[in-house]
Amino acid sequence: MLHFDELVSLFNTKLEQEIAHIEKRKPQNLYEPVIYTLNMGGKRIRPVLLLLAHQLYNNNFENAFPAAIAIEMFHNFTLLHDDIMDNADLRRNFKTVHLKYNNETAILSGDAMSILSYEYITQCQSKNYREIFELFTQTALKICEGQQFDMDFETRSDVSVDEYLEMIGLKTAILLAASLKMGALTANATTDEANLLYEFGYNLGMAFQLQDDILDTFGETTSFGKIIGGDIVANKKTFLMLNALELAKGETLSDLEKLLSVTDFNRQEKIQKVKNIYNVLGVVKLSQQKMDDYYNKAISNLDLLNVDENRKKELFLVANKMMKRKS
Ligand code: IPE
Ligand code: IPE
Ligand code: MG
Ligand code: MG
Ligand code: MG
Repeated sequence: MLHFDELVSLFNTKLEQEIAHIEKRKPQNLYEPVIYTLNMGGKRIRPVLLLLAHQLYNNNFENAFPAAIAIEMFHNFTLLHDDIMDNADLRRNFKTVHLKYNNETAILSGDAMSILSYEYITQCQSKNYREIFELFTQTALKICEGQQFDMDFETRSDVSVDEYLEMIGLKTAILLAASLKMGALTANATTDEANLLYEFGYNLGMAFQLQDDILDTFGETTSFGKIIGGDIVANKKTFLMLNALELAKGETLSDLEKLLSVTDFNRQEKIQKVKNIYNVLGVVKLSQQKMDDYYNKAISNLDLLNVDENRKKELFLVANKMMKRKS
């Protein structure tokens, strides 16, 4: 049984081998940003969750690697396009691709990564291949739906909490869910087990995005690797913002509405003012409570798995560690 850190190294070794193949491809201007992105780090949470789910039922990872690489490749593709959409300058403490190169490059290299991810998924040797392929495809399309909702919400002032939860489910939680389910499928686990792992990943993913939204406003750039306050600048309708809009009264509410409608503003000033309102209204605590609710649901999904407690331990530990992350 391998631990999370050991699986990260194992996965990174496999990924390096694939990077070496990609380095031989031409034109260089298409693949260099792909390699730049894959080499800039990242927590590798999704592929490692896939390997951990696989390991619940099978200690031989050979069948799981192509799916793990596909998932990480796809995730990195979404980041390239997401950073254009969110106008983000920093990712994993490196310049984002669209800033280092340009938008055209970030779009096309992102497309190439998306297609490469399909090349990897088709390398899966499994009797569950068709189910894995369909899950991967449905997940990919749903992420696009989530990303569009996320963009649509920037200009809407009547977004409900349910709409927000549906949106983060689509843009983030289902990829963690699919990773875990794919790990179960590559290990030939039963449908019930695979579906329970999907639920676990979904709930963990919801907690993960709620936390990402907290860190985007209250984290540190050096550890988080992204520029703090991007969500505020872009008028993202995060759980923090939705609760602030719900709780604010009188002058605070009109200040917040004004901050959401200004087009010409000083970035730091807007971030600071919104942060002050969040602090006054205590919305971080509400986000943390929501996160804990999802985390607890995730843990109860794990409890139901029909696997020896000792084998499950690593997933419990990882889920717990993820909730304490700063990066
Ligand atoms: C970033 O995901 C995108 C979100 C869904 C919040 P991660 O926080 O897993 O990013 P990396 O891969 O570790 O950089
Ligand atoms: C992540 O949303 C969703 C996807 C990348 C698909 P965010 O926009 O919050 O992710 P970060 O914060 O830029 O990593
Ligand atoms: Mg985004
Ligand atoms: Mg973003
Ligand atoms: Mg974010």
